[in-house]
Amino acid sequence: MQPTRDPPQAASQQSEEQITQPRWCGPDSSIAPVSIRTIQRAAREGLKFACLTCYDATTARWLERAGVPVLLVGDTAAEMILGFPNTLHAPLDFMIMLTAAVKRGAPRCLVMADMPFMSYQADDAEGVRNAGRFMTEGVADCVKLEVDRSFAPLVTRLARAGIPVVAHIGSRPQHAKVQGGYYAAGKTAQGAVDLVEDARVMLDAGATMLLIEATPVEVTAEIVKRSPVPVIGCGAGSACHGQVVVTSDLLGLTPRQPPFALPLVQMGEMLDGMAKLWRERVRSGMLGEHPYSLSEEEAVEFRRRMR
Ligand code: KIV
Repeated sequence: MQPTRDPPQAASQQSEEQITQPRWCGPDSSIAPVSIRTIQRAAREGLKFACLTCYDATTARWLERAGVPVLLVGDTAAEMILGFPNTLHAPLDFMIMLTAAVKRGAPRCLVMADMPFMSYQADDAEGVRNAGRFMTEGVADCVKLEVDRSFAPLVTRLARAGIPVVAHIGSRPQHAKVQGGYYAAGKTAQGAVDLVEDARVMLDAGATMLLIEATPVEVTAEIVKRSPVPVIGCGAGSACHGQVVVTSDLLGLTPRQPPFALPLVQMGEMLDGMAKLWRERVRSGMLGEHPYSLSEEEAVEFRRRMR
């Protein structure tokens, strides 16, 4: 495998070890697509991997090109794309369509589809069918569900159906209404023990990966230590094998970001500058040379018909 080619300023901040990590995907078509096995091997070998949210083919193409191995089509699309105040408003058909778009843009990334609110909670059989839609219509590589131990029977049914499940534990944004907002999880000794137990039950039920959101580092470290499968963290500390954040946060496009996903670039400023430049060009008529014209013959005929 080839070494990563990070942008120079980012590379200079990285250790030698990070720079020589494998190039996961990217424009070189000789590199095999990232599979669950690739991620399992990376976790076994202690290679940390990046995961970013993605909701469209164009962004997916750039993220694949940059060598990001795992893309999450998160239900944060409800906030980032649709402008809702939380993730409860991600329609199932919409999420499936976005998942397929991301896979088309990044065919060699591992694409994780987030099952939206009420697509799996009401009834296990419906959950299995909906997960199946993500795998077939959405061309996803795995599905993610926000769970606690009470979802074990569903996880087992999905695993039995051949659907790789990422069990999302810890803070669960689809429970925000019950919790009265977004809160970290496992912050008491009892809460921490409960989380470790949730993780154990999910692993026993057949989860292919764990995703832990907003938990204290000690709790995360304990779960990672006991987990035979890769663990992705989101604000859960550095013990995890992989790390995921919302891409729009890193791009500086959101009004405020969690402390673990502060902007790495100021794309909001770039958009602002671009829009102002375009506005000015349109206003002043400086649009550059026009690319289309009639041939002399067609122009003569056109003028004749217009008379
Ligand atoms: O939907 C999402 O973006 C997520 C991550 C932030 C973990 O679930």
